Amino acid sequence: MYTWTNDWATGNQTIDFQHKQLFQAINNLLEACQSGKGRTHIDSTMIFLVNYTAKHFGDEEKLQQQFGYPDYPNHRKLHDNFKATVNELAKQLREGGPSIAIVGKVNSSVGGWLVNHIQKEDKKVAAHIKSHTHS
Ligand SMILES: [Fe+2]
Repeated sequence: MYTWTNDWATGNQTIDFQHKQLFQAINNLLEACQSGKGRTHIDSTMIFLVNYTAKHFGDEEKLQQQFGYPDYPNHRKLHDNFKATVNELAKQLREGGPSIAIVGKVNSSVGGWLVNHIQKEDKKVAAHIKSHTHS
């Protein structure tokens, strides 16, 4: 389970709000896989995660374009790779059902990836947006 820490805050309210929702979605999926919930419930938490990931990346990419973020093409590629990872996991879960291996992958390839991505990449994005916002 992931518990939000201020270490993960980028300082951009929209991005931080959506990251919190993403961790919540990851926790819901982990819980569903671990607690012997029915397949319907597990599948719906996975579908939510797939859809929310796409929505969040779409919004974040729009912000990057809007503020002329110089590293956008690279950041976009990282997002695309992650979406492929999540889609692949969804396929494995659909076909094989929950397992310790799946839970491990959700933890490392999804949750762990996101923590790392926020620290390394999204904080740079938020700093760029902040420095280009006139108030
Ligand atoms: Fe990102």
